[in-house]
Amino acid sequence: MGLFDRKKGLPADFFHGVTDMHCHLLPAVDDGFQTESSSIDGLKYMERLGFRQLILTPHVMMDYADNTRSHLEQLYDHYRQVVAESCGLKVRLAAEYMLDERFLSHQEEGWLYLNPTERIVLVETSYMYKIPDMDQYLYELTVTDNHVVIAHPERYVYADTDEFRHWKESGYSLQLNLVSLAGGYGRPAKDNAEYLLEAGMYDYVGTDMHKVSTFEQWLQALKLKSHQVDLLHELYENNARLFGA
Ligand SMILES: [Fe+2]
Repeated sequence: MGLFDRKKGLPADFFHGVTDMHCHLLPAVDDGFQTESSSIDGLKYMERLGFRQLILTPHVMMDYADNTRSHLEQLYDHYRQVVAESCGLKVRLAAEYMLDERFLSHQEEGWLYLNPTERIVLVETSYMYKIPDMDQYLYELTVTDNHVVIAHPERYVYADTDEFRHWKESGYSLQLNLVSLAGGYGRPAKDNAEYLLEAGMYDYVGTDMHKVSTFEQWLQALKLKSHQVDLLHELYENNARLFGA
C-alpha cells in the first residue's frame, strides 16, 4: 500500500474460480445478449477468463413487460441445457428489478432471488432520478423478510455520499460494476466506485455484462492497486456464498 502500491492490469488469475452475480447473458429478453449464439460466445469468453459460476439477472421493468417470472423461467429451462452443452459453467436464474411503478406487483409471482435461501433481491433505479417511492418500495420488500442488493450505486447521478450511507444504514447491500473502476461509465461513476470500495461499503461485484466487446474493452483498460485487488477478492467470496453450494 502507499507510495509503492502502483496501479497495474489485472493479475492473470484474477477471475479464477469466481462467481458473477450480475449479467445479461440470458438471450433476447432485454438490452443484453440478443441471440443464443452470441450468448454462447459470451459464456465461453467468461469461462476462458476463469469464471466458474454465473447468476443471470435479466431486467424486470416496465420497458420489458414480457419478463414475468414464469416467462423467464420458461426461457431459462431451455437455456440451461444450452449452457450445459456449451461450457462447464454453473448457472442460476435471478433478475434485476427496476424500482418503477410495477415494482411491488412482482411480489405476487414471487421474486427471482439472487439467493433463494436468504431471500436476496437485486434492484436498480433510474440513473437520472431517485423515484419518490424508493424508500417505501424497499420498506415493503424488506418488511416481508427479504433482503436488498442495490445494483451499481456508483452509476446513479443523483446519489451522493449521504445517500450511500443512508442505503447502508437501511441495511441494503451494494454491488459494484467491475468496469466502473476503469471509467466504463464515466469519471463520476469511477470516483464513486473508488470511494465506495475504499470505504468498505460494497458487498458484491458483478460484470453487468451486456456485450463481450464492451466489457473486454474496459477490462483491458482496468488498472488497480494491489490492495484494491485484495478488496475485490473479498467481494468475490461474498458472490460465491450468494450462489450457494
Ligand atoms: Fe444489469
